[in-house]
Amino acid sequence: MAGHAGTDAVILVGGQGTRLRPLTLSAPKPMLPTAGLPFLTHLLARIAEAGITHVVLGTSFKAEVFEEHFGDGSDLGIELEYVFEPEPLGTGGGIRNVLPKLRADTVMVFNGDVLGGTDLGAILDTHESTKADVTLHLVRVSDPRAFGCVPTDEEGRVTAFLEKTQDPPTDQINAGCYVFRREYIEKIPSGRPVSVEREVFPALLAEGARVQGHVDMSYWRDMGTPEDFVRGSADLVRGIAPSPALPGQRGESLIHPGAGVAPGALLIGGTVIGRGAEIGAGARLDGAVIFDGAVVEAGATVERSIVGFGARIGPRALVRDGVIGDGAHVGARCELLRGARVWPGVVIPDGGIRFSTDV
Ligand code: GTP
Repeated sequence: MAGHAGTDAVILVGGQGTRLRPLTLSAPKPMLPTAGLPFLTHLLARIAEAGITHVVLGTSFKAEVFEEHFGDGSDLGIELEYVFEPEPLGTGGGIRNVLPKLRADTVMVFNGDVLGGTDLGAILDTHESTKADVTLHLVRVSDPRAFGCVPTDEEGRVTAFLEKTQDPPTDQINAGCYVFRREYIEKIPSGRPVSVEREVFPALLAEGARVQGHVDMSYWRDMGTPEDFVRGSADLVRGIAPSPALPGQRGESLIHPGAGVAPGALLIGGTVIGRGAEIGAGARLDGAVIFDGAVVEAGATVERSIVGFGARIGPRALVRDGVIGDGAHVGARCELLRGARVWPGVVIPDGGIRFSTDV
């Protein structure tokens, strides 16, 4: 275990997760089951593995759910504290708001929805060795257009902080993990919403603070959209994404205790079957995320989709690139394709939605 006990960690978990609705109507995004564990467990396990022992969660939306599940953090070998924002203060305001709980001079801040494999200790080493005021973890991605783009100079110092652009000058993007010297958190305006990306970082550059980039090509995925959530989950199941919370062998599928899988069902592509879920004969699940208690009936196909708690997919139905809300019922032979989102509890009758003219 590395020696970073003198560093505090802060995780921002207060967002509404609108892009993952309707799943985030009942659970905050960082608590959605991912390879069978609340997503945040994977991040907390990585933080604990790096030797950081004091972690503060900045909560707002559905705040109580976090403490109910993680308590004081002792199960994970950390000390966990919570700071609640009655009105969301944004990503910068959320960091400023936890200040009274901070103890260390070095504070590592995380977005609570990033699945990553980077060496956290190496980021802290960069922060120390360059004597930076703030260090940003940057990852290289093949298509940087959808992200905040962060160019650096030959010494690795950040030279600009650019919003999403169609013509990015570099493939380095903001990975949503930062190290702050505590006094730079004190400087963030308090009591009002502040965006760390749009306000804090540009202001730091404008005032000439030493903002360092730590660049790598580690595994990285922002789990904010259904597409990324499905891919990240499958990557955990298949061992492509690392997680200290998931020891042991990985494979094409992960079936949790109490689930029933009928003979002849095909589970591939990093499919996850939740506790108590039922999969019928001849069903084909490829990269499917089936939450606890959901049912996929005989001959149905579920591809790259999320099926919420207790939802039901009828016989021979097809769900591809969709999100099925908790308790919804997709009737037999229905076809739901790319981008379909079924709201919780909605019942679609047998054959009720088709993309073809066959009966
Ligand atoms: P979308 O609504 O789908 O954009 O998701 P989101 O609300 O989670 O926003 P985004 O993905 O940009 O947030 C990045 C991280 O910051 C997530 O882990 C959020 O939980 C967290 N976050 C966003 N806004 C706030 C806030 O106002 N307060 C706190 N404490 N955390 C926030």
